[in-house]
Amino acid sequence: MQLSVVLSSEQYVRDEGLLIISIMLFCFKGELKQNKDCATCVGWYVVSRPFMNPDDPLLENMNQAEALKHYYNAGRMLIRLSEAIGRVVLSGREMARLAGFTERVHELMMVLKDLNLGKYERTMVKEGKDSDSEDDREPLVPGSGKMVYQDNIIDFQKVPLVTPNGDVLVKEMTFTVNSGVNVLVCGPNGCGKSSLFRILGELWPLFGGEVTKPEARKLFYVPQRPYMTLGTLRDQIIYPDSKEDMLKRGITDQDLEDSISRVQLTNILEREGGWESVQDWMDVLSGGEKQRVAMARLFYHKPQFAILDECTSAVSVDVEGYIYAHAREVGITLFTVSHRKSLWKHHDFYLMFDGRGDYEFKEIDSETEVFGS
Ligand SMILES: Nc1ncnc2c1ncn2[C@@H]1O[C@H](COP(=O)(O)OP(=O)(O)OP(=O)(O)O)[C@@H](O)[C@H]1O
Ligand SMILES: [Mg+2]
Repeated sequence: MQLSVVLSSEQYVRDEGLLIISIMLFCFKGELKQNKDCATCVGWYVVSRPFMNPDDPLLENMNQAEALKHYYNAGRMLIRLSEAIGRVVLSGREMARLAGFTERVHELMMVLKDLNLGKYERTMVKEGKDSDSEDDREPLVPGSGKMVYQDNIIDFQKVPLVTPNGDVLVKEMTFTVNSGVNVLVCGPNGCGKSSLFRILGELWPLFGGEVTKPEARKLFYVPQRPYMTLGTLRDQIIYPDSKEDMLKRGITDQDLEDSISRVQLTNILEREGGWESVQDWMDVLSGGEKQRVAMARLFYHKPQFAILDECTSAVSVDVEGYIYAHAREVGITLFTVSHRKSLWKHHDFYLMFDGRGDYEFKEIDSETEVFGS
């Protein structure tokens, strides 16, 4: 009986289907937030149609209570049916997602296994596309370059700039930077500016050539969004050192105050309640203040070379000038990645990537055409 009521409803849908479909389309177009409620209303309406017609043969032998019962049951059946179909459709999507995640985790596990065994070979994206001369070159082997440690020099000799995936950003780089020579690094997005420093910082393997550089602790990397550690204001300046390390190095709070005055940040000492104050520094400090804290950190550590990767973008030009002057004074040689025109005057050489696999390393003189924003 209930099924026949449902069938009867379907007949109605056939007869006046266009009207119903247009109502449903309207609901599903996203014009209304309560799509689901509208679809339910339409469903109940469809089911109710046979019960509205007193001549319907289904209602012939029924009293009102029975008709109501069947109406209700038919409605519930349709709702359950639609919920079940919905669940089947959604579970298909969920299964596809799960299969995707499983595939990726499996791939990661296989790559890690291959890396541990030292036989990882990248699946090339360009594979089979074109077999030009690039394919004829010798395969790049991670770790085949040579790293030499020496103070006060950064020297790249025929070093290819290659991502861990095997993508070649620059075929070969050769340049020498001695202490005291600031270098401005520029080029379009994704050309390999940060990647150069990932190789320098030994985060990425050397795929060839020879790099001469000081030990890792004598190089300092300042990113665009500096990391603020959990702890006191002092911890922010001396990170990654602890207070004990600081005292061992013979540095006092007074010296730290000097560091923050160099970046014109003395006011935060009073504002935040002294060196022992503990806050959520990521939130409390503004973007520019975080960048200045990172620079104060640089002055605390006084490395031989520092890499400033777009790290003064939120600092005003005058403060920036002050910071560069002080870095020169204390003998920190800077590699700056920046698109700011105002920074050229603080540098002696520029390293410009063209984004197509070439680069230019040249002295900045009066002839050099300065660009940037
Ligand atoms: N961990 C990684 N593994 C593989 N490829 C990477 C990785 N990190 C970056 N790349 C790729 O290396 C290329 C160069 O990235 P890089 O971060 O050096 O660019 P960039 O010149 O610093 O750009 P931007 O101006 O946006 O900072 C990009 O194509 C990027 O997709
Ligand atoms: Mg970068």
